[in-house]
Amino acid sequence: MSQSILTALNFATSLLKEKNIPNPRSTSELFLSSILNLKRVDLYLNKEKILSDKEREKLDSFLEQRISGAPIQYITKSTGFYGLEFKTDPRAMIPRPETETLVSEVIKHFKKIKRESDALKIADIGTGSGVIAITLAFELKKSLVYATDISKDALDLASENAKINEVEKRIEYFLGNIFGPFDNRNLGNSFDCIVSNPPYVRDSDFENLDKEIKDFEPEAAFLCGDDGINFHKKIAEDGIKYLKEGGLLALEVALDDDEKLVEFLSSVLSYHNLRVVKDLAGIRRVVLGVKF
Ligand SMILES: C[S@@+](CC[C@H](N)C(=O)[O-])C[C@H]1O[C@@H](n2cnc3c(N)ncnc32)[C@H](O)[C@@H]1O
Repeated sequence: MSQSILTALNFATSLLKEKNIPNPRSTSELFLSSILNLKRVDLYLNKEKILSDKEREKLDSFLEQRISGAPIQYITKSTGFYGLEFKTDPRAMIPRPETETLVSEVIKHFKKIKRESDALKIADIGTGSGVIAITLAFELKKSLVYATDISKDALDLASENAKINEVEKRIEYFLGNIFGPFDNRNLGNSFDCIVSNPPYVRDSDFENLDKEIKDFEPEAAFLCGDDGINFHKKIAEDGIKYLKEGGLLALEVALDDDEKLVEFLSSVLSYHNLRVVKDLAGIRRVVLGVKF
């Protein structure tokens, strides 16, 4: 039986609704625009177009995956972040919108001190799908980014994403624990910026995460032990050795962990100009400081 775009949209919406999947209409639109390679608004301009058998089979498979709990971004294999497109699959965590605030603050900092056109050296610790490293390389046109991760799978995905966004020549990838891969590479006091969205879910809170996260995304992207700022402390501590004087430290934090982190950075490690920035949901999400 032939099916138009509009009929398919209505069918997918009712099925997702019946199965209690959130946002059934917008999910159906996202699925069809991904399958047909059309913008969401163009689905309606082409609403009478008939789907091919292959397109209908793909829609059925997307719906089945969504009903079994898979996240939309792993099904469509794509996520938008800061105006760029990223390949998204279970090799790395799905980029979150709040991380755009982290990236935006780093860019604003270098614009404010009029260094956005310099050959900045940036380290992105725990790069995952590469969103932070790639967006910074894209926006800060001469920057060179060193991206690390403990997961080889994540680094493979990040390097594919760098090629998709045509910044692969300005990003180097390192496999290993936090700054471990920088050892013996003569990188002391050489970075203009260290940026990270590290794991920040306490082990004891993991069970409370949505099934969609627990069952599909890599655990290593979330778990941080018994303290939400365990990774942050280590990155800030070891980062002192790698940052230049005046270099920027920019970290994403969990809800309500910002004060503890600011206290640690100012009293224990003597970072200066400490600032906390809220994300678009009004949560104090990004902590920034400068090494003197
Ligand atoms: C919260 S995710 C962030 C991913 C990505 N930067 C983003 O913002 O979407 C944290 C990342 O840190 C990586 N990671 C976990 N433990 C690590 C470690 N000890 N050293 C380096 N990276 C680590 C994980 O594999 C994961 O990719």
